[in-house]
Amino acid sequence: MHVGFIIASWDSIDPINSSTLAIIKECLIRDHEVSVLYTDNLTVRNNVVHGFIETINVMDKIPENIVSFYKKVTFDKKLKALHAFDCMMIRKDPPINPLVLNFLDAIKDEVVIINDVDGIRKANNKLYTTTFHDPHNTYLPITHVSGSKKFINKAIDESENEKMILKPLDGSGGRGVIVLEKNARSNINSLLDFYIDDSGDNYVILQEYIEGAENGDVRVLMLNGKFIGAYNRKPATGEIRANIQTGGTAHKYTMTESQKRVCKKIGTKLVADGLYFVGLDMIGDKILEVNVLNPGGITNINKLEKLKLQKQVVDFLEEKVDAKVEKRVELEYLLKRFSELRE
Ligand SMILES: Nc1ncnc2c1ncn2[C@@H]1O[C@H](COP(=O)(O)OP(=O)(O)O)[C@@H](O)[C@H]1O
Ligand SMILES: [Mg+2]
Repeated sequence: MHVGFIIASWDSIDPINSSTLAIIKECLIRDHEVSVLYTDNLTVRNNVVHGFIETINVMDKIPENIVSFYKKVTFDKKLKALHAFDCMMIRKDPPINPLVLNFLDAIKDEVVIINDVDGIRKANNKLYTTTFHDPHNTYLPITHVSGSKKFINKAIDESENEKMILKPLDGSGGRGVIVLEKNARSNINSLLDFYIDDSGDNYVILQEYIEGAENGDVRVLMLNGKFIGAYNRKPATGEIRANIQTGGTAHKYTMTESQKRVCKKIGTKLVADGLYFVGLDMIGDKILEVNVLNPGGITNINKLEKLKLQKQVVDFLEEKVDAKVEKRVELEYLLKRFSELRE
């Protein structure tokens, strides 16, 4: 099959830590054709969605070592209709430009897209967790979202929590995540001015600081609604954010039974929303966020657990493509039978 990866840039891939590169390599090992493309390469040519896609040239031998593999990759660049793909993975950090999803709307019925375009549309920012509807906080922390500085100030006043977290609605990699101490409010108005301008288009998240966050969070990888691996990210000294991008370190982690129950519950909803490959950030039993665009963690979990999770991901892509092909064949057969009966 031909698999396309929408990525930010090939040159900025860190081969040892890249989950995307691990998946790409696994596809090539299985003799699939692999191409990468960038969002600014998306093009409509006479009403058909195309892309300047860079197809990886077939190698006589794929190096075992991931860095050697990365260095050995060469590309053949061509303008091609995106219908040429059997499958695409969107592996670019959020937020994604909604126009990219509109480009992909044109092919989503024919090409398997992980995650589903409409699923990404729903989960393109942190408001997605509100669709879980958990007003009693069984698995979501107390979370307020608002574009009103007055509301946020009032929510801080009314909160029973001494410590709270303020973060942007569509951030990633820990950007803009800060702690607010209730009794040290001198900076709050200035901060809110920074997060929320007068356009009416900015929203900010105010969230309870989750107990136990000092020990870091847990990145849980979910595939087709099921948990496939997890690891603990501990924040660097003096840091509250456990993201690897902010100096967090990776540690082995065994999921608790109640965490597994939460994942199972969420898993059904994720699949119903077309969100097949997802990274959950959890502290205890609470889900902080659902990463649907470019979740990482494969390489860290592989190292800590001696696994090759990329194999499970590619197995799943193959299954999805096979199922789509079968459906198409069945439909074509039915259409043929229908027209024969009419004749
Ligand atoms: N409510 C919270 N309580 C404690 N720590 C938090 C909370 N929210 C975020 N953090 C810390 O900040 C990190 C980044 O927050 P997250 O909501 O996952 O945003 P991002 O999309 O930037 O990764 C988390 O991994 C966690 O370490
Ligand atoms: Mg996160």
